[in-house]
Amino acid sequence: MTTIPVALGARSYDVRIEPGLLARAGEILAPSSRGRPIPIITDANLSAHCETLVASLAAAGIVAPVHTLPAGESTKSWAQLESLTDWLLEQGVVRSDHVIALGGGVIGDLVGFATSILKRGCHFVQIPTTLLAQVDSSVGGKTAINSKAGKNLIGAFHQPSIVLIDPQVLDTLPQRDLRAGYAEVAKYGLIDDAGFFAWCEENAAALFAGDPAARAHAIGHSVGAKARIVAADERETTGTRALLNLGHTFGHALEAETGFSDRLLHGEAVAAGMALAFAFSAEQGLCPAGDARRVAAHLRAVGLPDGLAAAGVTADGQTLVGHMLHDKKMEGGTLPFLLAKGIGQTYLDKTVDLEKVAAFLDTQR
Ligand code: GLY
Repeated sequence: MTTIPVALGARSYDVRIEPGLLARAGEILAPSSRGRPIPIITDANLSAHCETLVASLAAAGIVAPVHTLPAGESTKSWAQLESLTDWLLEQGVVRSDHVIALGGGVIGDLVGFATSILKRGCHFVQIPTTLLAQVDSSVGGKTAINSKAGKNLIGAFHQPSIVLIDPQVLDTLPQRDLRAGYAEVAKYGLIDDAGFFAWCEENAAALFAGDPAARAHAIGHSVGAKARIVAADERETTGTRALLNLGHTFGHALEAETGFSDRLLHGEAVAAGMALAFAFSAEQGLCPAGDARRVAAHLRAVGLPDGLAAAGVTADGQTLVGHMLHDKKMEGGTLPFLLAKGIGQTYLDKTVDLEKVAAFLDTQR
């Protein structure tokens, strides 16, 4: 078992990574249960994993009522938040209790937010079942639902009490979702770890073929990087955590243009967004053109979109910049961009001229 601490003072917790961990969750959670039930919230696609988890908890003497939600982004809504909090109250959850989020980013974000407000905050356990949730959204305490005005606009920082990652659950994840999650893995190399990006280039094929060692290394390394960044800047105030948004501003415009739908998954938009961030940096003379080409080549090689066309987006630059202006990262009329001086050398720039971004995007169509 690999254990990665997330060092946040009184809010510190461990991320535990081990193949088969789902079936051992009961013994790990028994001490925190203190004989109390641990409700599980999951989605309709995860019944087999949920059965494994319930059996493991039962074997440890833990009662685990299950609430199953529809799979998909629309579950991150006020309506589902209301019905989930009503259900948790019916279960008699008290502030010192734990609640399990078993699922991808949608379940993790919704349950995280629900537990941040239930009884003014109770404990929750993240058991992420997608690669994206394992390497990104389950760690760091960002929780949210969507509103009419946009994605993730209503939420809270609420850290889980533990994160249990079982890489074996990825065996049943559709390849498209695996690829989308992989964009966030490669992101850690592009941010500040050129050696890890080189590892990704060499080992991505093994990871996609199901090699357990490659998967374990990719997850462990990514979680380690995320834990380090979150510990340095939990609430994204110093700019360090903002590095995790590499590709997200360009990506947000692509997601908005495709209606935040299955036409372009979040991880796919991030991949295309990272390629665009590097290409824009190269066009501005900030980054070697060879690095930008290398980023695009790797994303293409694993089947991820490497720009506008591959993402299926034909809109012009002004339209895409218009979408960016609705990004929740907009602050005081400026939009912070993550640019790069090279692979592993990403930095935050709050002075980017949006006219230049629009003109650049027009060259990418
Ligand atoms: N997914 C970006 C963050 O956790 O800050």
